[in-house]
Parts: sequence; structure tokens; C-alpha cells
Amino acid sequence: MTAPLLPAQLSIVVPTFNESQNVGLLVDLVDKALPGIAWELVFVDDNSPDGTSDTARALALTNPRVRVLQRVGRRGLSSACVEGILATSAPYVAIMDADLQHDETILKAMFERISEGDVDLVVGSRYVEGGGMGEWSESRIKMSQFATKLALRLTQTPISDPMSGFMMMRRDAFMRSLPHLSTVGFKILLDIAASAPTPLRVAEVPYTFRTRQFGESKLDSLVLWEYVQLLLDKMVGHLVPVRFLSFAMVGGLGVFVHFAVLTALFKGFDQTFSAAQTAATLVAITSNFLLNNMFTYRDQRLKGWALLRGWISFNLVCAFGAAANVGVADWLFSHKSYWALSALAGITVSVVWNYVMSAFFTWKKKG
Ligand code: GDD
Ligand code: MN
Repeated sequence: MTAPLLPAQLSIVVPTFNESQNVGLLVDLVDKALPGIAWELVFVDDNSPDGTSDTARALALTNPRVRVLQRVGRRGLSSACVEGILATSAPYVAIMDADLQHDETILKAMFERISEGDVDLVVGSRYVEGGGMGEWSESRIKMSQFATKLALRLTQTPISDPMSGFMMMRRDAFMRSLPHLSTVGFKILLDIAASAPTPLRVAEVPYTFRTRQFGESKLDSLVLWEYVQLLLDKMVGHLVPVRFLSFAMVGGLGVFVHFAVLTALFKGFDQTFSAAQTAATLVAITSNFLLNNMFTYRDQRLKGWALLRGWISFNLVCAFGAAANVGVADWLFSHKSYWALSALAGITVSVVWNYVMSAFFTWKKKG
């Protein structure tokens, strides 16, 4: 360990989830890569079951440049990065992964470039001359390139690798994006670029993506859904919250589930209409609950007993929502409103009710 130069000129924010085998190695490598630069490093750990927070705190006890921000009951790569940046003060901030896939030896070049003062953001890029994908599968490369094309349309900022999770930026530039950030999902760079009030001035430094040695990737198929949410939020988020869109979409799906169960029981199994309707309602509410828990509230997913409690509260919320639906529709219809419009108004009221109340009772944020 070289003697720390503080206060820090460069704050490096490293999101972690189950990276306890990597954090020590990363600090050593960064230390070698940034001689003579006053850097600090903050791990933002979402209470990893493998004890990454404790491992990182042990490092912090021997190295004053290292700190830990431990978040409990939360998940999310982008939000972790944002909170990490906000917990630091240096004029320049970097974001990099903990798993050693990002080549720390380019940090120095990134720092020199951003210090020149004519750019807001330096991106570690796999797509400019000299960079590379390392050992990525064909299908993941294809997917990444497709997402990249979509991203370019959105940000209007010429970044060859907008999916990169490796970057360095001026704090003042970040602060200008901050009020407009979506902070859903994995794509923090894209979020920052698309949220900037005026296009960012960007430079890129090539690197080759390394292969992970320890631990595993957290990128799963739901990351694609989060990406869609991010794009939606950037396009229509100023009009309606994306969470509400997702909630309403799940509700729409629930109508199909309802009719499928109803038809099967009533027509297929000769049940009475009222029995079939009751069963269909229960199944639809339950499937809506589980889908919302998986997609709409992926960042605060309920598990175990909390899942059961959430299911009960969701049933109660929906029961009141249904009563409001019928009440409003009835009232409108009896006051000479067209029947289909009355029904639509009833549905709208119940969707909004269910959304607001379930946000409050079923998926309420802790603290
Ligand atoms: N705090 C926190 N919370 N950290 C997380 C979470 C989370 O929910 N999910 C992942 N991380 C951390 C991981 O521990 C790792 O340090 C980093 O975020 C990247 O996660 P990986 O699971 O290794 O992602 P990847 O390698 O598949 O994808 C990376 O590379 C892509 C290409 O550059 C990420 O950086 C992507 O954002 C990037 O697009
Ligand atoms: Mn990785």
C-alpha cells in the first residue's frame, strides 16, 4: 500500500453483490494502477449473503482509502452507483465493477484525460480501436450490440459503448444529470447520458473486458426487462411513472388470466358461474401479485413470510379496489353515462387505487 494522499481527487465507486473474493484483489490492483493520485474507493454492497460488506470493512481497517456503504433490503446496480457517488466528495468520480472484468490499468489514462478539463465523461470502451469483448458468447455480443443501437438513439450522445459499466466523470456533470436519473436497472452510464440537460462531452479509452475468475454474474434475463423500463422511463417517464405502466400492464394481463380460468371452470368443468368467477378472481389476483413482485417491484421483491403478508394485503387492497370500481361505474351509469365508458372509468379508478394502495401497504419501502 502506497501512503494515502487525501483529500481524494478521485472517488472510485464499486457496486458489489457477492464479491467477497474479489474486493481485496481489486483494491491491490487499483493501488498499483494509480500511483501518485489521491484516490479513495467506496464499495456499495447490498448486504451480500457472502459477507462482502464485512470483507470490505476489514480492508478499510488496514487501508484508509477504502470505505463501505452497506444497504439493507435494497437491490440495484444503478442506485448503488448513485448513492456511492453521493457519499463522496472528490471532483472526479469513477464507477467500476468489483469482479476484475474492468481493466484497472486504464484508470490512470482516464484520470489524465478527464483532468484536461475539456470533457465531462471518459468511458472505458470495448468498441473503440484497441478495446475488446474478451471471451463473450456470440449471443451476448449480439444482444449487447442491439441494446447499444437503441441506446444511441435515446441519448443522442456519441458513445461507442453506452452499455459500459466502466467510466469516470466530472462530479459537476453528474450533478446536472442527478435530478433526472431513472436509476432502474444496470445501465448507469446510459441513464446519466440520457439525463444530462445538455449533451455530455465524451472521450473514450479502450480496454478489453476480462473473464470473471471468482463469483458469478448477476446479469439475468430480467435485466433485459429493466433495460426496457429504463428506455420507457426516458421516453414517457415525465408523463407517467414507469412503475405505474408496469403495474397497469400486469393488470391487463390479469384480465386474460381471469378469463382463461373462468372459461376453463365454467365451460370446461361445469362449475357454477359464481364458483368459477370466485376462483378466477383469486387466481388473477395471485398472479398479478406475483408478477408485480417479480417485475414491477423487482428492486424490493418480497420473499418468505413477507411474500405471504404481501399477498394478503394485496388481496385486501384489490377487494376495496373492486368495490370502488363497481361503485364508480354504477354511479356513472345511473347518471346516464354510456355503459362502456362507465365501466372504463370504474376500471381506471380501481387500477389507480390498487397501484397507490399496494405501493403503500404491500411494497412499502422500509425506513
Ligand atoms: N450493490 C449492488 N447491487 N451491486 C451489484 C448488483 C446489485 O444489485 N448487481 C450487480 N452488482 C455488482 C456486481 O457485484 C459487480 O461488481 C458489478 O455490479 C457488475 O455486475 P456483474 O454481475 O459482474 O455484471 P456483468 O459483468 O454481467 O455486466 C457488467 O458489464 C457490462 C458490460 O460492460 C456490468 O458492468 C454492466 O453494467 C455492463 O453493461
Ligand atoms: Mn461482471
